[in-house]
Amino acid sequence: MTDQDALFPPIADDEFPVPAPLDSHGPARIVAMSNQKGGVGKTTTTINLAAALAAYGRRILIVDFDPQGAASAGLGINARALERTIYNELIAAKPNLHEVIVPTSIENLDLVPANIDLSAAEIVLINEVAREQALSRVLRPVVDDYDLVIIDCQPSLGLLTVNALTAAHGVLIPLEAEYFAMRGVALLTEQIERVQERLNPRLQTDGVLLTMVDTRTLHSREVANSVRQGFGDTVYTTYISRTVKFPDATIAAAPITLYAPSHPGSVAYRQLAREIVARGQCA
Ligand SMILES: Nc1ncnc2c1ncn2[C@@H]1O[C@H](COP(=O)(O)OP(=O)(O)OP(=O)(O)O)[C@@H](O)[C@H]1O
Ligand SMILES: [Mg+2]
Repeated sequence: MTDQDALFPPIADDEFPVPAPLDSHGPARIVAMSNQKGGVGKTTTTINLAAALAAYGRRILIVDFDPQGAASAGLGINARALERTIYNELIAAKPNLHEVIVPTSIENLDLVPANIDLSAAEIVLINEVAREQALSRVLRPVVDDYDLVIIDCQPSLGLLTVNALTAAHGVLIPLEAEYFAMRGVALLTEQIERVQERLNPRLQTDGVLLTMVDTRTLHSREVANSVRQGFGDTVYTTYISRTVKFPDATIAAAPITLYAPSHPGSVAYRQLAREIVARGQCA
């Protein structure tokens, strides 16, 4: 094994076992996809990991928790036109998330859409009792229907992200293989610890996922090295290479795992799905 292989082991279809079929579903584990840095691959990972797990027979709910609505758009759902989205449920006296969930074109994958209305939530919630628990309360009646709920957070550490961390069992942190990436993660880690202490003792850091990796550059290798030193086994073995196919898939409004199933990016997200099951982070 070369040094490069130790940092970036080959991504392969036999690295982790194929998950055994499930004969019953739920209650779901809830995962917050979070990093306050923009454009690190949160939404891309949410959609492609969800599609890969759904193809392994897991029932998945994506909660779009970003007013930009990128996860909704990425699944081909025009949330701008919707009357009811996650926003209405967060502020409702009697929320009923079942009425807001939409099926996607992918079997086993449902979505709670979001649009720009959600940008008002931080202001509206500020005067609410238990404002940090609003999302947790909204999700409670649907967790039995799914094996995994993935919350696609906006790039911020504000009240919406605190709501996601309060509702979650685990946090998945996508990290762009860039200098200074680690510096921002220290702030996120502090926020996770605060939420653990004050609001949600069960919260765990499920893993750090290196994204936009270019295995051939010294730059990516140095970043991977320092991330693996800093986070140890918390870093997933799986990493995601930089490829133009992801922007293409965004335009196609479909997960790359469906749009180009044999592309290395699809192979990587399928491996991540198997690694997550192997780690016990999804049934
Ligand atoms: N591995 C990759 N290689 C190349 N481009 C990628 C990769 N992953 C994501 N992208 C592209 O980078 C851009 C940002 O990705 P994405 O929207 O997933 O990030 P994000 O963290 O959700 O961003 P935001 O913080 O704005 O929500 C998108 O155009 C996406 O298609
Ligand atoms: Mg996003």
